[in-house]
Amino acid sequence: MEFDTVNQGYQTILQFVNALSKSVEAKDRYTNGHSERVARYASEIARRMGKNSEEVKSIYIAGLLHDVGKIRIPNIIINKGGKLTEEEDDYIKLHPNAGYHILKDIDCVPHLAEGARFHHEKYDGTGYPNGLAGEDIPEVARIIAVADAYDAMASNRSYRKVLPQEVVREEIQKNKGTQFDPKIAEVMLQMIDDDVNYELREADVTTKNILIIDNEEHVRRQLVEYFQGEDTYVIFEADSGFAGIEIMLNHHIDLVLMDVLMPIMDGFTTLDRIRSVTDQIPVVFLSEEKDVDLLNKADTYGTADYLIKPVTKKALFDAINYMLK
Ligand SMILES: [Fe+2]
Repeated sequence: MEFDTVNQGYQTILQFVNALSKSVEAKDRYTNGHSERVARYASEIARRMGKNSEEVKSIYIAGLLHDVGKIRIPNIIINKGGKLTEEEDDYIKLHPNAGYHILKDIDCVPHLAEGARFHHEKYDGTGYPNGLAGEDIPEVARIIAVADAYDAMASNRSYRKVLPQEVVREEIQKNKGTQFDPKIAEVMLQMIDDDVNYELREADVTTKNILIIDNEEHVRRQLVEYFQGEDTYVIFEADSGFAGIEIMLNHHIDLVLMDVLMPIMDGFTTLDRIRSVTDQIPVVFLSEEKDVDLLNKADTYGTADYLIKPVTKKALFDAINYMLK
């Protein structure tokens, strides 16, 4: 497919690429939009380097897919919080080549596979997988390497928050010419200097307010129990649609978990009321009804998901993660 001249083609590719990128990120509970941020930073670097809009678009896509090879790495290693053993590290180091093999037959986005394959090379030749140095490393990979390292510092980790901007700047400056292509690092430094409010970063980890609306007390109790010990969530409970809306008028709510069949005001009516105020908040229906008509109706009402009761903790958290990530 040609996307150079046809914008629709680019949008279509972008949708597939985003899906692929999300499927990799779903493996990793520590990366929260990392690929998307790397894509944004890398394409901005490219734009400032004077690349034309087609090249900038290609680099955006290459940024989104630079870590796609992580799909090959066992989840237990990707999600290990602490220090990796040598063998585990060997596994991690497979991802650039794995990415290359996944992407190498895509020819409508120039240099796509090269971005994945060489983004861990270092300018002084001490990187992996091939130990390439200087301009032997394809430019797309040199750009992604800077954007990737920048985002690793300007995002939250399990053990620390986003680093202060001056620390990030210092680190890019220090590794200019060793880890990073000096010209590209210089562009990143300019971007940092222009970013006076430190907006090029992952947002802080904030608690999410979840509202449970269900007339049955034992269901609410079960759901509340699932959230015990999860300190990033604050739970609100309502025993009817009316009570739920009352809570929503007085509190900021990030997600609603709602029973479909409730007396007087059912889930659909409540959702209608919610939507008349806001269409931003994702609403998940919980129901005993295994009924495709209800499922379709829920879709047309714009629900985020439809879970069958009794819902397991795993299924609930998986659904929530997709919506709140
Ligand atoms: Fe990587």
